[in-house]
Amino acid sequence: MTDARRTVDLDVAGLAERDAYKILGSLVIPRPIAFVSTRSADGRLNCAPFSFFNAVGYAPPVIALGIEQWDDGREKDTGLNIRRTGEFVVNLVDEALAEKMNLAAIDFPEEVDEFAEVGLTPAPSVKVAPPGIAESPVRLECVSRALVQVGRKHTVAIGEVVCFRVRDDLIDVEKMHVDPDRWQPIGRLIGGDYARIGDRFGLPRVSLADWNESKGG
Ligand SMILES: Cc1cc2nc3c(=O)[nH]c(=O)nc-3n(C[C@H](O)[C@H](O)[C@H](O)COP(=O)(O)O)c2cc1C
Repeated sequence: MTDARRTVDLDVAGLAERDAYKILGSLVIPRPIAFVSTRSADGRLNCAPFSFFNAVGYAPPVIALGIEQWDDGREKDTGLNIRRTGEFVVNLVDEALAEKMNLAAIDFPEEVDEFAEVGLTPAPSVKVAPPGIAESPVRLECVSRALVQVGRKHTVAIGEVVCFRVRDDLIDVEKMHVDPDRWQPIGRLIGGDYARIGDRFGLPRVSLADWNESKGG
């Protein structure tokens, strides 16, 4: 019999960077994908996907992105543009957008506008200068609040969401809720593997009073 309490312990001090990426990326799953659109200081458009991404607060709404630097220390265009202009749009990704999102991850030279190159439509934003991606069903317009360098290879960009733009057939504005069956987000696993929202189950929150009652108190 296997002992379920036995562990494999990977001290990160002795772990190659590539292996740390693979183990982290296969453990923290599924990750939502921020398809980030930015504008360079001289007005060129850029977009690229980031799955080191999540919501980290709501008052105000705050998101974080983990942006790698290239091995020679250069910043990715997304990081550069956020640093120089202070604004970006997180375009969330549904199944219909998956293929173009994947193409936009090609390491195109800085002068290439990924919108034109992969066939995406810039959609003017409400509160920030960079356009969103018209094909994305949900767009979060963000103002950069901090860029934190962590180690030699990563910048964590912290953005305050100043406008939510949700396709109107997806949102129930009474409940302030978007139905995942309608918008069909995809999540990143590791490498080229992705997930849909599959089976769901409910788990109601338990109050302290319920808990005490369940113990016969
Ligand atoms: C699904 C997916 C998720 C990705 N997530 C990240 C990420 O979290 N951080 C990162 O630095 N690069 C990530 N990449 C790679 C970037 O998208 C890629 O390096 C891109 O060329 C960067 O473009 P830029 O130089 O225009 O910013 C991801 C690629 C894909 C396909």
